[in-house]
Amino acid sequence: MLIDTHCHLSFNAFDDDWKNAVKRAQKKDVQMVCVGAARATSEKSVTIAEESDGVFASIGMHPTHVLDEEFDVAWFSKQARNPKVVAIGETGVDHYHLDEARKGEILAKQDVLLKQHLQIAKENNLPVILHTRDGKTESTGEAYNHLIRVLKEFGYYKGVVHCFGGDWETAQQLLDLGLMISFTGIVTFKNASESLREVVKNVPADRFMVETDAPYLAPEPFRGKQNEPSYVEHVARGIALIRGEDYDTLASQTTKNARTFFNLS
Ligand code: NI
Repeated sequence: MLIDTHCHLSFNAFDDDWKNAVKRAQKKDVQMVCVGAARATSEKSVTIAEESDGVFASIGMHPTHVLDEEFDVAWFSKQARNPKVVAIGETGVDHYHLDEARKGEILAKQDVLLKQHLQIAKENNLPVILHTRDGKTESTGEAYNHLIRVLKEFGYYKGVVHCFGGDWETAQQLLDLGLMISFTGIVTFKNASESLREVVKNVPADRFMVETDAPYLAPEPFRGKQNEPSYVEHVARGIALIRGEDYDTLASQTTKNARTFFNLS
């Protein structure tokens, strides 16, 4: 059994096919956390989770939507109490998809948005799912530094940095704060960076999880196709290969990590 800790079945790419995607995952004994990125996709994530066995929801607003809609704290706080909601997010910092001329203003708004999520997570004792992406002209790791600064200002570290793509030094900083990290199908790509492989090799067995980030980032041998939770096995196999570990041991360890982290029964 595996848990895909981050997929977006609530996105338009799946439309009504999310039901079939869930069935294909169930057939492979894969459970999942369906992650919202704005109010509508969060609402749909909750619906999908309520209608499906082995599917849980995370609700939040992605930093790239900071100018698109007002973050409705009351609505998200209420939804957070739904027993099928196991996390808050995804949220975080994104230096990539923004109007460079308004960068300072937008990043300041992302700080506020992230802290609003941290507050809801803290009030409900839920973990938070964190996104980071460096700007086009920035040096590597700027977004991680930004994320770490905001987390320290607020003081809540029950979280996972999803789709981790930083170096080992950055990973250690996050782990030292108490955060988890998770890996996507990028670890299966032939051109995966040496620094990512180093992180996969070095991260302690109880501090990472697997995810698809479906519909994006399909792992090998499905690279380029629409990703889905049933493919998460290939992410776990890629990690086992890099770490030189037995697949079954790794699969049960990462499942245990996800169960503990999201408090799944
Ligand atoms: Ni995502």
